[in-house]
Amino acid sequence: MPASEKISRKIISSGNAELDGKMGGGLPAGSLALIEGSSGAGKSVLSQQILFGALKNGFKVSTFTSENTVKSLLSQMQSIDMDVVDYLLVRRLKIYPIALARIGSDAPNRLLNALRSQKGRDVVVVDSFTSAIANQTNPTLILNFFEECKKLCGKGLTVILTLHAQAVGSDLVNPIRSMCDAHLQLRTEQDGQRLVKTLEVAKIRGAASATGAIVGFDVEPGWGMRVIPISKARG
Ligand SMILES: Nc1ncnc2c1ncn2[C@@H]1O[C@H](COP(=O)(O)OP(=O)(O)O)[C@@H](O)[C@H]1O
Ligand SMILES: [Mg+2]
Repeated sequence: MPASEKISRKIISSGNAELDGKMGGGLPAGSLALIEGSSGAGKSVLSQQILFGALKNGFKVSTFTSENTVKSLLSQMQSIDMDVVDYLLVRRLKIYPIALARIGSDAPNRLLNALRSQKGRDVVVVDSFTSAIANQTNPTLILNFFEECKKLCGKGLTVILTLHAQAVGSDLVNPIRSMCDAHLQLRTEQDGQRLVKTLEVAKIRGAASATGAIVGFDVEPGWGMRVIPISKARG
C-alpha cells in the first residue's frame, strides 16, 4: 500500500463516541476541515474535543490560538474534563498563542508559514481563523491560504480551522466550503420552546453516510460536549 493511502485510512476521532458516530467515525487524516459557526456556537469547544481525541489516539498536534494564552487554553480544556498538560510536557501537544488580528493583512501568509513549519505534526488546529482575516480585504489571499493548506493536507497533515462565516463575504464562503474535505456547521437553533446548539455534518470526505447528520449538544462544565436529543435530529 502506498504511504499516502496508509495515511488516508487513519481517522482523527473526537474521543466522544456519540459525536464520532455522527461524523462517520471521525475526520480522515489529511483532511482540510472547517468548523463554522457564529460566536458561542461551540467552535472552540469542538476543536478542543477533536484535538484531545487526536492526542489520545497518539497523534502529534499543534494548536494556534488567537483567543487564549497557553495557561488559559489549558484551564479552558481542563474545565471540560480535557487535561492536556502531560501531552504538552512531552511535546505531543504544542500551543502557540498568536495575536492574528493584530498582524493585519499579512496574517494569512504568516499563519501559512507557521503551519508549514510544523514538521512532524499530524494535526494542526487554528482557532480562530476568523481573526486571521479580520483585516483582510483581498479575497485572493484568503483563497490562496486554503489552496496552500490543501497542499499540506496532501502530504498527510490534518488542518482544522474555525471560522465565523460572517467575517468573509458570501461570495467567498462557498468556494472555501467546497475546498474543504470536512465541513462542520454549528448553530444555535430553536427547538420547540428552547434554544439548542446543533452540529451539522455538512460534509466529510469519504464518509457519505455521515453527510447531513444533525445532532444537538450541550456544553457541560466538567464534562464537555454532550449529545442531547432534539426534534430535528438526523443521521
Ligand atoms: N467549561 C465550560 N463550562 C460550561 N460551558 C462552557 C465551558 N466552556 C465553554 N462553554 C460554553 O460552550 C459554548 C461554546 O463556546 P465556544 O466553543 O467557546 O464558542 P465559539 O468558539 O463558537 O465562540 C458557550 O456557550 C460556552 O459558554
Ligand atoms: Mg471560539
